[in-house]
Parts: sequence; C-alpha cells; structure tokens
Amino acid sequence: MTTEHAIRTVGLTKSYGDHQVLSGVDLDVVPGTVHALLGSNGAGKTTAVRILSTLLRADGGSATVDGHDVATEADRVRASISLTGQFAAVDEVLTGRENLVLVGRLRRVADAGAVADGLLTRFDLVEAGGRKVSTYSGGMKRRLDIAMSLIGDPAVLFLDEPTTGLDPQARIEVWRTVKELAGRGTTVLLTTQYLEEAEQLADRISILHEGRIIAEGTLAELKRLFPPATVEYVEKQPSLEEVFLAIVGHSPAAPAASAPTAPTTTPEGAQR
Ligand SMILES: Nc1ncnc2c1ncn2[C@@H]1O[C@H](COP(=O)(O)OP(=O)(O)OP(=O)(O)O)[C@@H](O)[C@H]1O
Ligand SMILES: [Mg+2]
Repeated sequence: MTTEHAIRTVGLTKSYGDHQVLSGVDLDVVPGTVHALLGSNGAGKTTAVRILSTLLRADGGSATVDGHDVATEADRVRASISLTGQFAAVDEVLTGRENLVLVGRLRRVADAGAVADGLLTRFDLVEAGGRKVSTYSGGMKRRLDIAMSLIGDPAVLFLDEPTTGLDPQARIEVWRTVKELAGRGTTVLLTTQYLEEAEQLADRISILHEGRIIAEGTLAELKRLFPPATVEYVEKQPSLEEVFLAIVGHSPAAPAASAPTAPTTTPEGAQR
C-alpha cells in the first residue's frame, strides 16, 4: 500500500491513572523522512512510540502506521515496523553476527547468514562480528541494535532515544548510521531529548510538550519562529536548543511564555 503519511496520529490521548500524558497529539510523518519527536524527560515520547508500535493502547484519537490502524490492524502494523527501544536489546552472550542471524531466523528472512554479513559490512562491524557483544563499546552495541532492527526491511523504523547514555564519539557513530538509513529512504521516527541530535538528523521536527505537539516544521521553519537577535552580541543564529527553550517557556529569556519571545541573554547553545 502506498500512503501519503508513513505515520499519522489525530488527537491521540493517553493517561496513566489520573496522569494525562498525551492530551491530543497530532503528528504527520512523510514517508522516507527522518522525523524527530523532541521533548523533555517525561514528555510522553516513549508512550507515543509504544502506542504507534502497538505495545500500548491509546485512550482516544487515532493513529495509522504505513496506512494501517494501530488499534484495529495491529498485526499489519507490526509487519511494517521495527522498534529500537530506549535500552539496547542485544544479547551480550552471543556474538554480533549470532545476534543478527537469530533475529533473521525469527523474522523468517531467506538466508539469514547472508543478511547478517551484509549488515555487518554496512554498519562497519565486520571485524567485531565474531566477538561476543559483551566486549563491544556502547556505540557498537547501539549500531548492532539498529542493524538488527533493519532485518526484514521494515517500512517504518522507530528509534527511541538511540543515543541516550552514549559518549559524544559513540553518538556521532550512531548519527552516521541514521543518516545512512535516511539516504536509503527508510522512514524513521526518532525520539530524542538532545536538541543537537534532532538538528543533525531530522528532516522535520515535532516538539512534544505538556501532552501536545506545540511546534512542528523543518529546522529552518522552527528557527523562523524565533525572532532574530537584535542586541549587540556577535551575530549568531539561534541554536535549536534556544528555539526549543523559548517555545516551551523554560528559557530564562522567556519565562512562562508559550509563544516564542525575543532572546535577551547570552545563548546557551554552546553548553553541550
Ligand atoms: N506504565 C506507566 N505507568 C504510570 N506512569 C507511566 C508509565 N509509563 C510512563 N509513565 C509516565 O508517563 C510520563 C511520560 O513517560 P514517557 O516514558 O512516555 O516519557 P518520555 O518522553 O519517553 O521520557 P524520557 O525522555 O525520560 O524517556 C512520565 O511522567 C512517566 O512517569
Ligand atoms: Mg522515553
């Protein structure tokens, strides 16, 4: 099925007890793009991903993935997707290659060994492929995890905080991997709390805050929401971090504002 939207949610809601986490999430992801869902800790990113990957039921609203309804066509959604969770799901006792072959067999791909070897090459893990995963660095584990999620060629890939806990070097390795996926036309919904990550990887960015998507667009569009600096500092484009902080109202420059406000303080983008 060809669909206009790889992912579409309309008015998605979810509460845990009396704690409403999603209060009407509208999200459109264009096929073949990397879309970042950006939000602070506890914003509801993983909750949204769990609903979209059929692991959790929404309370209200609707969601389709690859044209299939997550509530009524869960099997078809599962056949179209792959999920790389917030914590690496590789088996440390097995080698990298064994992990890949195992998943290939579980997903019933023809010639799991050849698929595994192809992925080891693509993800720069050929030399490590014969070693136990317990000897891998965090970045290598993450790369293997992402490689595993590509077995069976899913149309839509969910990456839930793919670089949380990684050092900057490993983070860059994973970014390279995701960029490569994007170049091949896989649709990726990436959740992250790292603004620079969204800035590096995403074609479009949705900001999830207090249960809703409060801003959506390309990086350039989001930056236009943020008025240019007019004071006597050295000229500098606002970083996505500043845009984000202004929009969610946590910036010292924009207390309690839900709309962007002009920055008056030194940008903090250089902190990370
Ligand atoms: N099973 C659950 N039962 C009760 N509350 C939950 C459950 N899962 C998540 N929550 C709460 O829902 C909110 C959103 O959680 P969620 O994991 O979706 O956030 P997140 O944006 O992924 O955060 P993080 O960046 O820390 O991963 C949090 O306040 C969390 O405590
Ligand atoms: Mg999460």
